[in-house]
Amino acid sequence: SGYITLDPGFKNTGSTKSAITFLDGEKGVLTYRGYAIEDLADKSTFLEVAYLLIYGELPTKDVLEKFRADIRSQMMIHEDMKNFFAGFPSKSHPMGQLSCLVGALSAFYPESLNPNQTDEEENKMIINLLAKMPTIVSWIQKKSLGHPVVYPKNNFGYIENFLNMIFGEVNQEKTFDPVVIDAMHKLLILHADHEQNCSTSTVRMVGSSNANMYASISAGINALWGPLHGGANQAVIEMLEAIKNDGGDADKYLAKAKDKNDPFRLMGFGHRVYKNFDPRAKIIKKACDDVLEKLGVQDPVLDIAKRLEEAALSDQYFIDRKLYPNVDFYSGIIYRALGFNSDMFTVLFALGRLPGWIAQWKEMRDNKEPIGRPRQVYIGENLRQYVPIADRK
Ligand code: CMC
Repeated sequence: SGYITLDPGFKNTGSTKSAITFLDGEKGVLTYRGYAIEDLADKSTFLEVAYLLIYGELPTKDVLEKFRADIRSQMMIHEDMKNFFAGFPSKSHPMGQLSCLVGALSAFYPESLNPNQTDEEENKMIINLLAKMPTIVSWIQKKSLGHPVVYPKNNFGYIENFLNMIFGEVNQEKTFDPVVIDAMHKLLILHADHEQNCSTSTVRMVGSSNANMYASISAGINALWGPLHGGANQAVIEMLEAIKNDGGDADKYLAKAKDKNDPFRLMGFGHRVYKNFDPRAKIIKKACDDVLEKLGVQDPVLDIAKRLEEAALSDQYFIDRKLYPNVDFYSGIIYRALGFNSDMFTVLFALGRLPGWIAQWKEMRDNKEPIGRPRQVYIGENLRQYVPIADRK
C-alpha cells in the first residue's frame, strides 16, 4: 500500500481530470466549457447552458430546439409516483422528498440499471432527469400546501412551466414578469456546475461503482442538503430571521461569528475555493436588486442582510480570512422575494446543479474512471488479545 497522503476534506487533492468547469479562486474566475459565467448568465438560457455542460458545445438553434422539445415531451411523471407523496408526512423536508423521488425514477426506468448503456439510452436518462425534476419539485411544493398538482404545459418554456406548476393553479395559468423569469434563468445557470464540490464528488463517487445515474444524482441531492453546502441558502434566511426576531442587531451576530468558543458561523459567507470574491455572487447581487426593485419588495430581513454584508466586509476578522458573501447569501433573498418558502431553496439549488451533476457523471463514465476508493491513516489500537465476554471488565 505504501505511503498515504493525508488531506482531510480533500483541500489539495484532485480526484479527477475534468474538461467541464474551470475556476480560479484567487482571481474569482468561473467558466463552463471555456465560456465565462458572466457571458452565459447574461446571454444564455438555462437549457442552453445545460446542453453546453453535458455535451461540451453550445447548441445550434436547431439542436437546442430539439433538446427543448425532447425535454418538454417528458415532463410528466408517472402517476404512481403520487403514492410516494401520499406516504410523506406533510412537513417532510423537500430535500428528503426530492432525493427519494429522483432515486425512485430508477424503478420506473429500470433500463437505467444496465451499466453498459448505449448513448441513446444514456440520453434518455439525461432528458428524463432534466424534464422530470421541475415537475417533481413542483409536486413537493403543492404537497406542502395541500394543493392539487398542476401538470406541465407543452406550449410553455422550461422556466415558465416550472413557475406555473409551482405558483399557478389547476385551470388557472400564471404569467410572470420577464425580470422574474430572467432572474430564475440566471440563478439556475450560476448554480449549474462548480467542479468537484461535495455533491458533485458524491455523484461521481457513487457512479464510479457503476450505480445508475438516478441513484447517483439522488446521492448528490443528499450531499447538497447540508447547511455547509446547498443548505446554506435556507440557513441564510433563517439566520436573518433569527437576527430580526432577536432585535435586529447585526453586530451582535457578527461578534458571535468571530467568537471561537461559539459554533455560530455567518451563513452565506466564505467559500472553500473563492478567497477573493465569488463571481456568481456579483452577478446574483445585481439580479437580486433588479427583482426587489421590480417587485417593490419591502422586507426588514433585507435591511439586516445589507447591514450584515457591510459590517462583515469592513471587519478585520472577515478581511483576514478572506470571507465574502457567497452566491447563497443572495439566492435565498431572491427566492424569498419570489414567494418560495425557505425550505424550498435548496431544492432550487438542486434543480440548477442538475446539469452539472449529469455532465460530471457522464464524463466520469466516458473516461472509464476507476471506482472511487480513498485510503486512510489508521490511528486505532494495535492487534489485541480477544477477551471472552465473561472475563471483560
Ligand atoms: N463565519 C465565521 N467564520 C468563518 C466562516 C463563517 N461563515 N467561514 C469560515 N470561517 C472561519 C473559520 O472559523 C476559520 O477560522 P480560523 O482560521 O480562525 O480557524 C477560517 O474562517 C477558515 O474556515 P474553514 O472552515 O477552514 O474554511 P473551509 O474552506 O473549510 O469552509 C465553508 C468553507 C463554505 C464551509 C465555510 O466558509 C462556511 O461554513 N460558510 C458558511 C456556510 C456557507 O455559506 N456555505 C455555502 C458555501 S457556497 C455554496 C456551496 O458551494 O455549497
